[in-house]
Amino acid sequence: MPLDRQRAIYLDGLAGRRPRVPVAPAELEAAAQSAMSADAWAYVAGGAGMERTMAANRAAFDRHAIVPRVLRDVSERSTATELFGRTLPAPLLLAPIGVLEMAHADADLAVARAAAKLGVPFIFSNQASVPMETCAEAMGASPRWFQLYWSKDDDLVASLVRRAEACGCDAIVVTLDTTYLGWRPRDLDRGSLPFLRGMGLAQYTSDPVFRASLSTPLPDPAPRPPLRLATIATAFAQARRFPGPTLRALRSGEARSAVQRFTATYSRPSLTWEQLPFLRRNTKLPVLLKGVLHPDDARRARDLGVDGVIVSTHGGRQVDGSIAALDALPAVVAAVEGKIPVLFDSGIRGGADVFKALALGARAVLLGRPYVYGLALAGEVGVAEVVENVLAELNLTLALAGCRSVGEITPEALRFLP
Ligand code: FNR
Ligand code: LAC
Repeated sequence: MPLDRQRAIYLDGLAGRRPRVPVAPAELEAAAQSAMSADAWAYVAGGAGMERTMAANRAAFDRHAIVPRVLRDVSERSTATELFGRTLPAPLLLAPIGVLEMAHADADLAVARAAAKLGVPFIFSNQASVPMETCAEAMGASPRWFQLYWSKDDDLVASLVRRAEACGCDAIVVTLDTTYLGWRPRDLDRGSLPFLRGMGLAQYTSDPVFRASLSTPLPDPAPRPPLRLATIATAFAQARRFPGPTLRALRSGEARSAVQRFTATYSRPSLTWEQLPFLRRNTKLPVLLKGVLHPDDARRARDLGVDGVIVSTHGGRQVDGSIAALDALPAVVAAVEGKIPVLFDSGIRGGADVFKALALGARAVLLGRPYVYGLALAGEVGVAEVVENVLAELNLTLALAGCRSVGEITPEALRFLP
């Protein structure tokens, strides 16, 4: 199948057609930038501080070189991967990414459809633009997970997890590296935070517990902004994204309350290990911790009965100058001693990158920004093309490195270049 992708592109070329969505990662990024608004581009492409973690994430891939083996009959291959009792077509999932409406009007729904078409799991973001139930319905029996931000309201946490179970999610990913949003100069210089305009709040405004809480006043409400053209536009933007008629959301003040309540409660910086059993009590699903970089944290997660960890720097959006995710991976893998799967993200741009992460012990990886770029360029088709390209390159890299299955990818396939 993956080789069909390569063949199809070349055959299209004979007929004078070029891929709609660029294959080369840098071209993909550049094309997406032209298709996106300046605010959207800043939010999606940007990172924390001087973006040194983003650079380090990529540089770490460059410091690990694949050493191919020859004469090993690679004519039959499989990228199939077992994860929590499911067989996936490849060791690849789509990362939870918030506010996809900034990239394309179809947002999460387009991603859900593309993921389902390919059988690749989609991790619904807690900051999605489309409620999880709507996406799940579009996916049939195809796998999906839910990513949770542990808010200050335990009832909301329990409600979100309940909904994730009810709409067929296979696992809960708790993202721990975003107790606060990072210092992001590109967004700061534009004074642009999408949530304040009511974007990326669909999981909240569709939640019964969250909706019920809107009638309770916040202890410390934000002052009403002065009446200006820009603030009226903001009020409309918030109301337009709130469920039901825009005018009603505007008049009732619910849209504004939703944004304020979200801002006041979306994460819980006081969270500690002691609270994790709450989640265990509230779900039967496997629980994974995302944003683990230190081996001691990985060990503690394993000892507490967590089902998996995801080594991630959140795409370099949180801490500037942190260890690259790929550099953190081997120690985390060693720490959990094979007892739980270690997943990986931050910097995956192609199939060879997936190969390298697997060689360092990741069971599977999450694809992030590249699929958002495909979404910005061509909606559902764009997401599918980007994912197919990564899978095709992974399949070819497997063959060309002398492996027939992902299980044959071992640390010996890599050389570290200091
Ligand atoms: C993210 N990421 C993220 N993670 C999460 O757990 N919940 C979320 O809502 C979001 N939102 C989000 C928005 C945007 C625009 C980006 C780029 C990233 C982090 C994401 O899941 C993943 O860790 C990174 O995208 C991986 O880095 P790369 O490979 O995309 O650079
Ligand atoms: C971000 C949050 C939504 O990275 O995770 O912007």
